[in-house]
Amino acid sequence: MTRIPPPLDCVQNIAPYQPGKPIEELARELSLDPTSIVKLASNENPLGCSEAVAQEVSRELREVARYPDGSGYKLKNQLSSKLGISPDNLILGNGSNDILEMAAIAFLDHDRSAIYSEFCFVVNKLATQSRAAYGIEVPSIDYGHDLERMRDAIQTNTRIIFISNPNNPTGTFIQPEDVLRFIESVPEHILVVLDEAYYEYLPKNLQSDSAKWIKRFPNLLVTRTFSKIYGLASFRVGYGMANPELAEILNRVRQPFNVNSYGLAAASAALLDDTFVEVSVSANNSGMRQLVSVAGKIGLSFIPSRGNFLTIQFEQVATEIYTKLLQQGIIVRPLGGYGLPNHLRVSVGLETENERFCLGLEDIMSNICT
Ligand SMILES: Cc1ncc(COP(=O)(O)O)c(C=O)c1O
Repeated sequence: MTRIPPPLDCVQNIAPYQPGKPIEELARELSLDPTSIVKLASNENPLGCSEAVAQEVSRELREVARYPDGSGYKLKNQLSSKLGISPDNLILGNGSNDILEMAAIAFLDHDRSAIYSEFCFVVNKLATQSRAAYGIEVPSIDYGHDLERMRDAIQTNTRIIFISNPNNPTGTFIQPEDVLRFIESVPEHILVVLDEAYYEYLPKNLQSDSAKWIKRFPNLLVTRTFSKIYGLASFRVGYGMANPELAEILNRVRQPFNVNSYGLAAASAALLDDTFVEVSVSANNSGMRQLVSVAGKIGLSFIPSRGNFLTIQFEQVATEIYTKLLQQGIIVRPLGGYGLPNHLRVSVGLETENERFCLGLEDIMSNICT
């Protein structure tokens, strides 16, 4: 047996991130035609991305031998005009996960703790664990963040509190005024990481003023992404907004050239296409109605969601239903790893994809119940 050098205990204990099952993998396993498979497992934008993206990206192909612009000058300038903040308030990431990691690298170690909610986005836990920091998981309230208990959970060594709003995998949402009150109540030596990956899906009246909040709170880091509504998940581009000093600290632990040229070009183009975002919001709203309606028809509970996905509860462990959906060429996300073994998370797809899921689920449930 080969022996590898012993990794850190904290790394040894990490359960690796489980992504949604790729289409090609299911096609291989069940000898299915990949084009017949519906993937509703990773909260991607079923409409793809803005048509403007392809042209910008192909232009970049001429420069493959060159390193990307490590400062992300153009994209940061575009974002700063759109968000009403300075480029110094911005940090770019290889996906917004990268920025969550940077926060953990800069603020956590084995002497420090981080607070996150039960059923929170798993990267909060992974980033904490990989720093050998102590993770304080606060029981949820109705599957969402219990901000009062999270504040009460603060220890003398706490240095980060993670909040995702809306949260994944539950889709729960905290009203912006409650988030603001929470940030006001957190001592300044603790970093609040407010993850707004699904921000653009929210109706305007529920979108927080977090781009303004960063000017008031030097201990606030807000993260957003191009992976969701902008449909650029494969390019891996996210961004953080923070006080310039905080952004500069994160920049110290950022990998040089962490965002590649194609991602930068794609995000730049996507940011100019407001129509694509509007169309995506509207498609998401009607797709969500389809999913909610089938859950109601079958008599299944679900967690009301403000994201681009719906988490449905079953009376039994959902593995069998997940497997039966796979056999029909429909990939959704089992949530056993999140401590929700009776739930499945379904991303909103195209109308026809949602329809496939709805019919498939109805069929499976009627056979299980008879
Ligand atoms: C709540 C939340 N935050 C962050 C991310 C990370 O997205 P990305 O790294 O693609 O920007 C996701 C992805 O699913 C998410 O659901």
